[in-house]
Amino acid sequence: MGATDHARGAFADRGTPSIDHAKSILDDEESGHLTRFIHAEDRMSYLAAHAGTRLLLSAIAEREADKLRFGRSELGKPVLVNAPAHLDFSMSHARGAVAVAAAYMPVGVDIEPLRDIRDMNEMSEIVLASEERQILAKTPDALQSRLFLRYWTIKESVLKAAGVGFTISPNTLIVDAGSSPTVLSAPAALGPTEEWRVIAPLNTPLNETP
Ligand SMILES: CC(C)(COP(=O)(O)OP(=O)(O)OC[C@H]1O[C@@H](n2cnc3c(N)ncnc32)[C@H](O)[C@@H]1OP(=O)(O)O)[C@@H](O)C(=O)NCCC(=O)NCCS
Repeated sequence: MGATDHARGAFADRGTPSIDHAKSILDDEESGHLTRFIHAEDRMSYLAAHAGTRLLLSAIAEREADKLRFGRSELGKPVLVNAPAHLDFSMSHARGAVAVAAAYMPVGVDIEPLRDIRDMNEMSEIVLASEERQILAKTPDALQSRLFLRYWTIKESVLKAAGVGFTISPNTLIVDAGSSPTVLSAPAALGPTEEWRVIAPLNTPLNETP
């Protein structure tokens, strides 16, 4: 059993923590942040993501969840202070869903609520490269928002893994958002494209009208 398998087992064995337990393992900054949400769904997502991240890292690093301390990299990526070598993590929170991930390599996760993108042209200019915009244009109207959000989450995950924040424009990163998603081309700051591995299951093909 590898270190990650061991952590997965230890994490799963703990079951679902209560809200009170989740709150009790946050630090002062996280607890302060929690009080500033207006909507309960946003508060719960933030709590689940931060407590979930702490519990996951606690299982991997074999340290108490409430004793973990976090800092920021130069470009704003959250980092675990005194982390085991190469251990990285990422989280994403949206209403009703969160994702957390940790690995002994740079890792990034992103989730977005499925929604209609109303200002598609403007958003596409910002997020998509011209070849991706062409693929989007050939996609049935009913599926365009889903495909756009798939591009968005894949790109955001890569940018989060790289920890580059807003220094890299997402339309300079080109990805295949099909059923076997890959990074096709990336600015030099993101390293060789073949080193990126994208995990984004696709349950329904995005070239057929549902
Ligand atoms: C900061 C940013 C990562 C936040 O993403 P988001 O979709 O608004 O929110 P998510 O819930 O998915 O992720 C938030 C978490 O990302 C992490 N995060 C913040 N800055 C980060 C960075 N520079 N690198 C990696 N992760 C970061 C934090 O854990 C944060 O959680 P917190 O706010 O509770 O501390 C993102 O807006 C960003 O920098 N994007 C730049 C790239 C871009 O332009 N993307 C557009 C679409 S592709």
